Amino acid sequence: MHDRGMGSTFAGRTALVTGAGRGIGRALAVGLAAEGADLVLVARSRDELEGTAALVSTKATVIPADLGELSQVAAVAAEAGAVDILINNAAVPWPAGPTATIDPAEFATAVAINVTAVAALTIGLLPGMLERRWGRIVNLSSGAAQAPAFLNGGNAYTTTKSAVEGHTVNLAAELAGTGVTANVYRPGTVATAMMTWVRDGGGTAMSAEVREYFTDVQQRGHLLTPEQSAGYLLARLGGEDTGQTWHAEDGIIARLESDKT
Ligand SMILES: NC(=O)c1ccc[n+]([C@@H]2O[C@H](COP(=O)([O-])OP(=O)(O)OC[C@H]3O[C@@H](n4cnc5c(N)ncnc54)[C@H](OP(=O)(O)O)[C@@H]3O)[C@@H](O)[C@H]2O)c1
Repeated sequence: MHDRGMGSTFAGRTALVTGAGRGIGRALAVGLAAEGADLVLVARSRDELEGTAALVSTKATVIPADLGELSQVAAVAAEAGAVDILINNAAVPWPAGPTATIDPAEFATAVAINVTAVAALTIGLLPGMLERRWGRIVNLSSGAAQAPAFLNGGNAYTTTKSAVEGHTVNLAAELAGTGVTANVYRPGTVATAMMTWVRDGGGTAMSAEVREYFTDVQQRGHLLTPEQSAGYLLARLGGEDTGQTWHAEDGIIARLESDKT
């Protein structure tokens, strides 16, 4: 794990990160703790969450939960206590494949994890943020929402990420002037388990063009590390911007390119 050094941007704050056991979520959690935040770490795999908690020196509370189950999402919000920073990072890329072959029940589960849980955690934690007149909500999206035709064979994922973006920007308008901001983060193309799944796993049910694109990105060495992507988001999180769609690539790819020259 890249050592970001200790800072105090989020000292005294508590950050809840979903999907905090690996990938971008783990890097975000570690980065938030490095800036002084206490953590609430949520995902299904307790061992992975405990692995993240072991990397930080601030208080880290592990809450294993399946975000596809609304009752478990409500329990997370209740157990978390006062949360100042909510990072809705957990998501699934499935079901993949031609839409006519998709199981509607799997589609509904993807919506539950990728969209309903995002809104439900906000609903559960927003009253406290409004009362304290400070809050930061960031919802992870994807380039799939920017270019909905691109992820051919990834209809469920594209649908959910487009929904998350609409939800977030609408929420930001509602929250204007409250001290609580809501922003979208598109994290770029990042070397994680999800990316491996899309390129080499169940995601091979997506179109050949999609697999070729991600294979090419990997072979050119253009995948971001989770820490690089997390760093770009964390640099923006303390500010007052709201209703924005932040992209990793704008900053990081440009910097990687200029580092090479
Ligand atoms: N990697 C990329 O290139 C990329 C590109 C664009 C957008 N994104 C977005 O970035 C975010 C993080 O992606 P990632 O690549 O880091 O994914 P990842 O490596 O697959 O990690 C996903 C995390 O979400 C958790 N999760 C999945 N299903 C869950 C459920 N039902 N309940 C609770 N937690 C659940 C996983 O833990 P458990 O399995 O233990 O539950 C894991 O901690 C996602 O929103 C993704 O859509 C990623």
